[in-house]
Amino acid sequence: MQNTVHILVLVSGNGSNLQALINAGQRGELGVGRIAATLTDRADIYALERARLANIPALVEPPNMTLPIAQRRQDLSDRILQFCRERNIGLIVLAGFLSILAGDIIREYTGRIINLHPSLLPKFGGVGMYGERVHQAVIDAGEPESGCTVHLVDAGTDTGPILLQRRVPVLAGDTAAALAERIHHEEYIAIVEGTALMVVQIAANTA
Ligand code: GAR
Repeated sequence: MQNTVHILVLVSGNGSNLQALINAGQRGELGVGRIAATLTDRADIYALERARLANIPALVEPPNMTLPIAQRRQDLSDRILQFCRERNIGLIVLAGFLSILAGDIIREYTGRIINLHPSLLPKFGGVGMYGERVHQAVIDAGEPESGCTVHLVDAGTDTGPILLQRRVPVLAGDTAAALAERIHHEEYIAIVEGTALMVVQIAANTA
């Protein structure tokens, strides 16, 4: 019998990818993976309601805005790391999390943090590239296709090794919202596949 892999899902908004993970877990698609908690960097987001409805503990850890940016990232990352240690978290999933992780958590959880990004990385990634901004940039660049990427998190922003990608066409007359919607459907598959893959790997390493 393999050990349970406790998953922490980090979110900053609507949480539709968190919902895809919750649904997949209920269908048994995460194997020995269990969503142990959700953590967000802002209050008043719908993702918290999704966690509440699914009986998943949800924590709000806002960044300390009095700190300069580098220290602010470090401080939030250290609080998340502390939580992960206390709760024996085996896998961290960034599912629409807009703060950037830094410092010890990246080292201690190397190969055990994944991020979902709404483009075909390495295109249209990096600091400031999130949500509809990404889709508008793809349209402005005249790209024929876009998609989503699940990748391992390293010390850079959107730079870690790619686990999987799913592609969609960019259609004539697309708006950022229309493209986002098309990509969302692929994200729900990608985030579940990526998480399930990591659960298998982490469970094997800790058996
Ligand atoms: C998703 O499209 C995700 O790829 C994106 O935020 C959205 C969250 O939606 N992430 C980024 O842009 C990270 N750079 P959700 O809250 O409905 O899951």
